[in-house]
Amino acid sequence: MNTREMFKRAVDGGYAIPAFNFNTMEQMQAIVQAAVETKSPVIMQVSKGARNYANATILRYMAEGAVAYAKELGCEHPEIVLHLDHGDSFELCKDCIDMGFSSVMYDGSSLPYEENIRISRQVVEYAHKYDVTVECELGVLAGVEDEVVAEESHYTKPEEVIDFATRTGCDSLAISIGTSHGAYKFKPEQCTRDPKTGKLVPPPLAFDVLAEIEQKLPGFPIVLHGSSSVPQDEVDTINKFGGNLPDAVGIPEEQLRKASQSAVCKINIDSDSRLAMTAAIRQYLAEHPDHFDPRQYLKPARENMKKMYIHKIVNVLGSDGKLG
Ligand code: G3H
Ligand code: 13P
Ligand code: ZN
Repeated sequence: MNTREMFKRAVDGGYAIPAFNFNTMEQMQAIVQAAVETKSPVIMQVSKGARNYANATILRYMAEGAVAYAKELGCEHPEIVLHLDHGDSFELCKDCIDMGFSSVMYDGSSLPYEENIRISRQVVEYAHKYDVTVECELGVLAGVEDEVVAEESHYTKPEEVIDFATRTGCDSLAISIGTSHGAYKFKPEQCTRDPKTGKLVPPPLAFDVLAEIEQKLPGFPIVLHGSSSVPQDEVDTINKFGGNLPDAVGIPEEQLRKASQSAVCKINIDSDSRLAMTAAIRQYLAEHPDHFDPRQYLKPARENMKKMYIHKIVNVLGSDGKLG
């Protein structure tokens, strides 16, 4: 299904739909299990990097398998969206639409404003012919991710959002209010340090900018990228078992909870899944140096991701029990 009805209900109901990235079968299984167990709608998203890693056709059929798997697990009417994350060209968006994706993102946020509008509009016109919904982005996120790079963050300018949403015809708008991609969302100099734990305490998100955007576009679906919270227990496990992620820091979950209750109706989480998977695998292999069957270490990795997805759905985004 596309995101139209899902987002309307989420905005009205004061919760957010989880958008989890997947690259592997274990991530897909964990996402579906978590969504079914919590009776939550879910967006399964695929980046350009995921398509390069796993093969576009395989991911597309994995998503179809995800729907069948959800039914097999007892969910009669699963609500699963297959979404392209950070499409960087009309051609990539078109390819996903032609392949059967129900939703795409065109990310022209690094382009000049008029160019972003022009290509976003082109994607929307094509997508809407097939009832595919389109997310566009205005404002630039900081941080470095494999294929998503921005030198510095520029908050979304509230004075531009009406013009942008009207002229592009987009169905949802990704904004920049201080989140960023990856496991290092803030530099130590942007944070304070908790004297007891020595952990970084990040600065708050720009809720004033979000409020202004909501005021300009009442009820319009807003999307937050870069919303992993980088759980410190996972970071500590990774570091304990041979990893090295000093000062990894994310968005505190209370802030995501607060955002979910506003017009923010889609929250993107990828890095937390990577951390959950890596922590479980590192621990398992350190404790079982004689094991070499991938199923042995991928099983606890899958369990750990599922636990994290359920936690986000129930305790952070509030999308549990929200199937239509
Ligand atoms: O927003 C970026 C996502 O985390 C996807 O990352 O391009 O490394 O697959 P990726
Ligand atoms: P994180 O790196 O915070 O998980 O963000 C993921 C994301 O925005 C995917 O588009
Ligand atoms: Zn993103």
